[in-house]
Amino acid sequence: VVHYLKDYQAPDFAVADINLTFSLEDAYATVLNRMTVVPRQADKPCVLDGSAELLQIVLNGKSLCPHEYAVADEKLIIHAVPDSEFVLEITTKLYPAQNKTLMGLYESGDNLYTQNEPEGFRKITYYFDRPDVMSQFTTTIIGDKQRYPVMLSNGNLIDSGELDNGRHWVCWRDPFAKPSYLFALVAGQLAVLEGSFTTRSGKEVALKFYTRPEDRAKAGFALESLKHAMQWDEDRFNLEYDLNIFMVVAVSDFNMGAMENKGLNIFNTKYVLASSDTATDADFEAIEGVIGHEYFHNWTGNRVTCRDWFQLSLKEGLTVFRDQEFSADRASRAVRRIHNVRVLRSMQFAEDAGPMAHPVRPASYEEMNNFYTLTVYEKGAEVVRMYHTLLGEAGFQKGMQLYFQRHDGQAVTCDDFRAAMADANGVNLEQFALWYSQAGTPQIKAHGEYDAGNRTFSLHLQQYIPPTPDMADKQPMVIPVKVGLLGRDGTSVVFRLADTDAVVEETVLVFNQAQQTFVFHDVAQEVVPSLLRGFSAPVRLDYPYSDADLMLLLAHDSDSFARWEAAQTLYRRAVAANVVALEANQPAPHHAELAEAITAALNADIDPAYKAVLLQVPTEAELWEDAQSINPELYVRARQALLQDLAASMEDTLTHWRTWADTQEQNSKHAAPQEYHPDLAGVRSLRNILLQWGVQASAQVLQTIASEYTQRATNMTHEFGMLSAINHLSDDKRDELLNQFAQRHAHDDLVMDKYFVLIGSSQRADTLQQVQAALQHPAFSLENPNKVRSLLGSFSRNIQHFHAADGSGYRFIAEHILRIDGFNPQVASRLVQAFNLYGRLEPQRKALMAEQLQRIQQHEGLSKDSREIVDKILRD
Ligand code: ARG
Ligand code: ZN
Repeated sequence: VVHYLKDYQAPDFAVADINLTFSLEDAYATVLNRMTVVPRQADKPCVLDGSAELLQIVLNGKSLCPHEYAVADEKLIIHAVPDSEFVLEITTKLYPAQNKTLMGLYESGDNLYTQNEPEGFRKITYYFDRPDVMSQFTTTIIGDKQRYPVMLSNGNLIDSGELDNGRHWVCWRDPFAKPSYLFALVAGQLAVLEGSFTTRSGKEVALKFYTRPEDRAKAGFALESLKHAMQWDEDRFNLEYDLNIFMVVAVSDFNMGAMENKGLNIFNTKYVLASSDTATDADFEAIEGVIGHEYFHNWTGNRVTCRDWFQLSLKEGLTVFRDQEFSADRASRAVRRIHNVRVLRSMQFAEDAGPMAHPVRPASYEEMNNFYTLTVYEKGAEVVRMYHTLLGEAGFQKGMQLYFQRHDGQAVTCDDFRAAMADANGVNLEQFALWYSQAGTPQIKAHGEYDAGNRTFSLHLQQYIPPTPDMADKQPMVIPVKVGLLGRDGTSVVFRLADTDAVVEETVLVFNQAQQTFVFHDVAQEVVPSLLRGFSAPVRLDYPYSDADLMLLLAHDSDSFARWEAAQTLYRRAVAANVVALEANQPAPHHAELAEAITAALNADIDPAYKAVLLQVPTEAELWEDAQSINPELYVRARQALLQDLAASMEDTLTHWRTWADTQEQNSKHAAPQEYHPDLAGVRSLRNILLQWGVQASAQVLQTIASEYTQRATNMTHEFGMLSAINHLSDDKRDELLNQFAQRHAHDDLVMDKYFVLIGSSQRADTLQQVQAALQHPAFSLENPNKVRSLLGSFSRNIQHFHAADGSGYRFIAEHILRIDGFNPQVASRLVQAFNLYGRLEPQRKALMAEQLQRIQQHEGLSKDSREIVDKILRD
């Protein structure tokens, strides 16, 4: 069944309140759902969503007979209901230990957890399982005191007591109306780490982090992150927390990163637990970001929620924007922005150019779980960022205030958000709506010329929105293009936009027609434009820069994004030249000038984290953006050849800065330099990427790593950095160090995930065999999504081996998709997207991939999750 945005209809019933009673037994649970239902129109049958085993239905105190209702296709239809308010009591029976989908109520390590977004609640009881039905939830949980000492749900604990037979009960009440997807329940043996936060109006909020007892000590950083997030939301968005308690529960079996259930967030352990000897600096940063993200949902998602799932980006795009800003305000704004852009360009642009392309607000879906995508999240965040760029911080915050004034307590649409932004600022944002309805990455062709006589610089822009499977012809969009001008000496050149305007150094052009020319006046000299500063729009921009222009921007641009981008373009050109050479069976050329430019940039006075990102060569997905009939292996080789060439010419510089990084850390004024700190994280990230380059330059680096290993391995950033650097080498020393690592961390499942990532992403010739062997490792389990993502996910992104010319990589992943699809469709259908490149592959690989895709398509009982994806890919 395909669901369409255009078919939306308001619900026929409202729910005044809902009372849930969970009785937790040894092998099952029963749920009594007592709700007060209010018809919004007369004579409508009552249709509820649900798939749980149904024990009983009672309407206004009378048990219903089988002929009074029907159950089919995950719906319960009650043929006749009263025209006015009635009470419906439905009892269901659940088997959480057998639920391997990790949706609804499920067991993980003897404890019980829920995941209900988007449509998990229907696995628990029968309900109007859609976000525009909001109600007040009261939840009673009854269970054995030994087995379930901790029993949690949303809101405030209002009562509890003892029962016979060693059982006890608790009652939670959430005073805020919410949709079913925000309902949560947790029960089991859990340790708690407590803290508190006093809000600006003086309310003390109890903060509680629940973990396995042995993990409690590792939740401290997440707790501190939460306090920072609460403070930041008050300071920057004027938003205060609204309950007296905020709980976070960590669980190791979890389909996604985390979930913002009201007052009771449930997190993948990966985004809660950290200590410097088990988590990398990047892990610490991800924890801070995800803790922020889920907390920020309390306003953008929970207080104001989505009308329907097509509007998912209303809460996700906005909340990702908020978490990005939180992280940027905490530290290293420039480097964080670059990091976000890199993720967007290497992953979301690829999604937008493939069979799954869809607008930020999809027009249709079969399985909603397939639409928790990079487009909805990351491109959605860029769309929100464009409002911010167009309206400025003050204008954007005015828009936010109006949004909450109008819609607190409501389920609304992306249009409502846009209207609040427009109305609060008295501007017209009609055309901006296209960002929500047109898929595909806009492409801008630009060129410019200087007129010395008139002292003008004219910038000509032309936009093109490529067709996507859902739409052929597209309208021109509103694209904010932030621009500055550099003189030939690298200094910033001022200009006026019109004769009456003030002199400025930078401006945001509002480019909203198919073609447009912008004239800069009073330009004193010949200039090189610095375009799309800060990556002011999620587009691809092509300007006919000479290499010398790009080197000028790399050396002098005051905008750190544009400066980094100049290096990216230079790398891209160099790899493209290598591709051409390798295709013609020629050796890859030597790139002496690029090596000099990068050396100069490294030696400039910039912060180490920024040096580290300057050394990132674009990913293969970015390199083949424009290509058709792709031979993926060629790109790996071309990119590799560039790295080797540059590293060889830059060996002394690389060693110099690596030694510098070591002394920085040793002489640091921080009392515990092995602990996470943004400054030290920057130094370590530089050291680790220098190690990777260093290994390309000389085999000697392996010896250095091996000899320093034990001393440095007390910090996971170093340990993982060293292993990553040598992970592709065929030397036995690599296996030896990896095996030691696995043995030392065998008891820590999050560190074992890192081991599986290393195995799955290695370029060694024997990688497929090593991955197959790792499937048998005692720490591995196909039922744990983190394990699947670590080993199989990393292998599916391992370009050389997944796209092996003999088809072995495709076959291996297809087999495992089918094994996983039988019990966890969500995880399986994510893996199916490894095949997204299908339509753009060279013929031989395309044929090999087709075989495996058809095999998946023809598999009996294939989930609708995987089917939707595989059908779309094969149509491409
Ligand atoms: N709302 C969650 C978040 O972004 C993600 C939930 C995704 N759930 C899913 N079943 N796909 O924080
Ligand atoms: Zn979210």
